[in-house]
Amino acid sequence: MARVYAGVNDQLGSSWYDYNSFRIEWSPPERYEIVRRIGGGKYSEVFQGVDMVNLETCVIKVLKPVAAKKIKREVKILRNLTGGPNVVALLDVVRDASSKFHSLIMEHVNNTEWKLLYPILTDTDIKYYTFQLLKALDFVHSRGIMHRDVKPGNVMIDHQHRKLRLIDWGLAEFYHSGTAYHIRVGSRYYKAPELLVGYKQYDYSLDLWSVGCMFASMIFRKEHFFRGSDNDDQLLKIMKVLGTDCFDAYLRTYNIDFESEIESLLQVYPKQPWSRFTTTENQQFISTEALDLLDKLLRYDHQKRPTAREAQGHTYFNLVRLEATSTKGDSGGYMSDSGFCSM
Ligand SMILES: Nc1ncnc2c1ncn2[C@@H]1O[C@H](COP(=O)(O)OP(=O)(O)O)[C@@H](O)[C@H]1O
Ligand SMILES: [Mg+2]
Repeated sequence: MARVYAGVNDQLGSSWYDYNSFRIEWSPPERYEIVRRIGGGKYSEVFQGVDMVNLETCVIKVLKPVAAKKIKREVKILRNLTGGPNVVALLDVVRDASSKFHSLIMEHVNNTEWKLLYPILTDTDIKYYTFQLLKALDFVHSRGIMHRDVKPGNVMIDHQHRKLRLIDWGLAEFYHSGTAYHIRVGSRYYKAPELLVGYKQYDYSLDLWSVGCMFASMIFRKEHFFRGSDNDDQLLKIMKVLGTDCFDAYLRTYNIDFESEIESLLQVYPKQPWSRFTTTENQQFISTEALDLLDKLLRYDHQKRPTAREAQGHTYFNLVRLEATSTKGDSGGYMSDSGFCSM
């Protein structure tokens, strides 16, 4: 069970989380005009567009034909979260009567592609944007929702305006304690260990692993910190850094029976000290606080990872913490002992 926000959906009630019985009123599409294509993926084609009523720029996310249930889930979640801190706003939903295509009209972010942006971020920028991402996630989690696909391509940053928005709610899901969820979610390099070992009763904490992967890539200046060629290799890449002692302890803690035919997954690897990844190029982004935060985010044991709120309180963010992240006693920051596995 999640350490925090475990029962929020029960408190908010079925009108909050029951996306299946949610009826969507689709607007006609004429109001929005396509300007140019800006992206797309497995599930969508995304365009920059213009709202002909107010002449404002918007994003038109045309959904590829998928199960109605999935479309309803994305719309319901976006409706629930719109207006929250650093969450992309849903402005309208439209359906073309002839083609039957569904589109989401969203707030446009003048994003700089992360592959170009991350290499030029300063230490302060990394602190600032990681903090903003955690702020979005704490809000999302507090509303009973797991994003499940946190990765650079789903975090839009308008660097000029220092604006960050978490986008792509296509894989997001409501959290109900005790539920077994699909493990085929997320994007490989950002997949948490629970997904890779087949532990289905995961919770919000899987998003914190992905934040850890993004944070590692930013401070160490590596495009992807764990870069596996398939799911097994992804786990292997993680084991070669976090070591196998903690992995075995993790499996025992949750009674996970993990079997593998892959020889290399059954070998023993020592835990690497984080300082091993420091180079002359990235040393300016590395500090005791940064490595302590990283060490806490990248834990096999999902219950041992800090929550988004706890992570925001880490001393690493002391200089950029813009507002109180807790009601009282916020100045000290969160940085405790970080022993091996610290079970
Ligand atoms: N609000 C937005 N502002 C700017 N670009 C966006 C926005 N939404 C989506 N995009 C672009 O479109 C891409 C795909 O959108 P996304 O919602 O992630 O769809 P998918 O589910 O297909 O991955 C993003 O990676 C980004 O490049
Ligand atoms: Mg995406």
